[in-house]
Amino acid sequence: MRAREEPIFYLFLILASTLLLTATAKSTIEPCSSNDTCNSLLGYTLYTDLKVSEVASLFQVDPISVLLANAIDISYPDVENHILPSKLFLKIPITCSCVDGIRKSVSTHYKTRPSDTLGSIADSVYGGLVSSEQIQEANSVNDPSILDVGTSLVIPLPCACFNGTDNSLPAVYLSYVVREVDTLAGIARRYTTTITDLMNVNAMGAPDVSSGDILAVPLSACSSKFPRYASDFGLIVPNGSYALAAGHCVQCSCALGSRNLYCEPASLAVSCSSMQCRNSNLMLGNITVQQSSAGCNVTTCDYNGFANGTILTMLSRSLQPRCPGPQQFAPLLAPPDTLPKDLMYAPAPSPEFDGPGSIAASPRSSVLPSGSGSFPGNPANGPAGSISTAATSSVSYFFITLLISLSSLYLVFSS
Ligand SMILES: *[C@@H]1O[C@H](CO)[C@@H](O)[C@H](O)[C@H]1NC(C)=O
Ligand SMILES: *[C@@H]1O[C@H](CO)[C@@H](O)[C@H](O)[C@H]1NC(C)=O
Ligand SMILES: *[C@@H]1O[C@H](CO)[C@@H](O)[C@H](O)[C@H]1NC(C)=O
Ligand SMILES: *[C@@H]1O[C@H](CO)[C@@H](O)[C@H](O)[C@H]1NC(C)=O
Ligand SMILES: *[C@@H]1O[C@H](CO)[C@@H](O)[C@H](O)[C@H]1NC(C)=O
Ligand SMILES: *[C@@H]1O[C@H](CO)[C@@H](O)[C@H](O)[C@H]1NC(C)=O
Repeated sequence: MRAREEPIFYLFLILASTLLLTATAKSTIEPCSSNDTCNSLLGYTLYTDLKVSEVASLFQVDPISVLLANAIDISYPDVENHILPSKLFLKIPITCSCVDGIRKSVSTHYKTRPSDTLGSIADSVYGGLVSSEQIQEANSVNDPSILDVGTSLVIPLPCACFNGTDNSLPAVYLSYVVREVDTLAGIARRYTTTITDLMNVNAMGAPDVSSGDILAVPLSACSSKFPRYASDFGLIVPNGSYALAAGHCVQCSCALGSRNLYCEPASLAVSCSSMQCRNSNLMLGNITVQQSSAGCNVTTCDYNGFANGTILTMLSRSLQPRCPGPQQFAPLLAPPDTLPKDLMYAPAPSPEFDGPGSIAASPRSSVLPSGSGSFPGNPANGPAGSISTAATSSVSYFFITLLISLSSLYLVFSS
C-alpha cells in the first residue's frame, strides 16, 4: 500500500511547491475612490548598466528627480549621462493615481525592441515590478508571441498612497519587489519600520514573503502645508531623499532629527522667479536667529508652493527656548560607479518577530484572488489595501496543468 501511495504523494509535493513558487507572487493593492494623486516610489534594480537618463526614460520621469530621490549629488558634471552599474537598487519617484478604483501608475510606456518578450520586459527591464500578464491585459495583447518592434506598451506599475500616512505620521510608500534573499525582518530593518507595520500595511496573515512579492513599504517622511492652489500641493518627501520643486528651482528634504520639510534654492542653472520673502531681505531657505532675554527669536523664509509660475514664500517668526543648531540633512552621495555594499545582495538576516500580540487589530487590507478583473471591493470605505496573487508566467500554469493531468492519469491507472 505505501509504495503505491508514494508517487502520488511526491507528485502532489511537486505540484504544491510549483504552485507556491509560481502562482502566489503577491502584490498589495490599495482601493481608491477619489482621483487625487500622491508621490510614491518604485524600488527598481537595474537589469544592466544604464545611464541616469536611460533609467529616467524607462519610467518617463525626470532624471534629476531620480538622482535627488536617491540623495545623489546633482552638481556633478554631466551627471545625467553618468553610467550606473547593473544591479544597483534605485528609488524611482512616480505619481500614484487612481485607475478603475485601484491605486496604480499608468503613465509609463515602453517601446518594444527586437528580441523583447512580455516576460523579459516584465521580469528583466522592469525588474519584476509588473508581470507579463499585467502588460498583456493593459494593452489587450492577444498573442504575446507576436510583439512588433516599436510597439508602445503601457506598463502598469504598482503604487500606494494610504493617505500619505502610516500610523498617523507622514509616509511615502515604496513598492518593493521581494528578492530571494529577503526576509520581512530584513526589509523592516532596512527601511526603519517594523514587521508588524509591514504586515498591517500589506494585510499579511503571517510574516512570510516570497521572491517576487511586491510589498508597500512605508518610509517615514515630512509633509508640506502648501495652499491647495499650489501645483505641488501635498508634496511629501521621504526621510533621506530630496525632492525637486518649482520647476527645478527649489529642492526640499527632511531636516535630520525632525519631521520638518526644509526647502532651499536648487543648485541648477535654471531661471527662477524671485525667492525673496516679502517685507524682508531673507531668501528662501534662510534662517536667522537672534538671542533675546525672552529666548531665541527665529526667523525663517519658507517655501510655500509653486503657483502660476511663481515661487510662493512665507516668512515665519517664532520664539524658541533655545537657538537651534545648524540644520542637517542626509548627505548627498557621488553618483555610484559600483554597487554600494549595503545595496548588494547580502545574506538574509535571521528573522526576528516583534510580538504577535500587536498584529493587525484592524487590517487595512484583504486578500483578493488574482485575475478577477475589476475590483469587487467598496472603494467608498476609504483607505484599505488588499492582496492580489498573480502567476508570474503562463509557462508555470502550463506546467501545473501538465502535473494535474499526470496525477489524474496515475490515479486512473492505479485504480
Ligand atoms: C477627476 O479629476 C478631474 C479633474 O482633474 C475631474 O474633472 C473629474 O470629475 C474627477 N473624476 C472623479 C471620478 O472624481
Ligand atoms: C488623511 O490624512 C490627513 C492628514 O494628512 C488627516 O487629516 C485625514 O484624517 C486622513 N484621512 C483618512 C481617511 O485617514
Ligand atoms: C531619518 O534618517 C536618518 C538617517 O538618514 C535617521 O537617523 C533618522 O532617525 C530618520 N528620521 C526619521 C524620522 O525616521
Ligand atoms: C540666504 O540664502 C541664500 C541662498 O541660499 C544664500 O546665498 C545666503 O547666504 C543666505 N543668507 C543668509 C543670511 O543665510
Ligand atoms: C493664476 O493666474 C490666473 C490667471 O492668470 C488667475 O485667475 C488665478 O487667480 C491665479 N492664481 C493664483 C493662485 O494666483
Ligand atoms: C523677532 O525679532 C524681530 C526683530 O528682529 C521682531 O520684529 C519680532 O517681533 C521678534 N519676534 C518674536 C516672536 O519675538
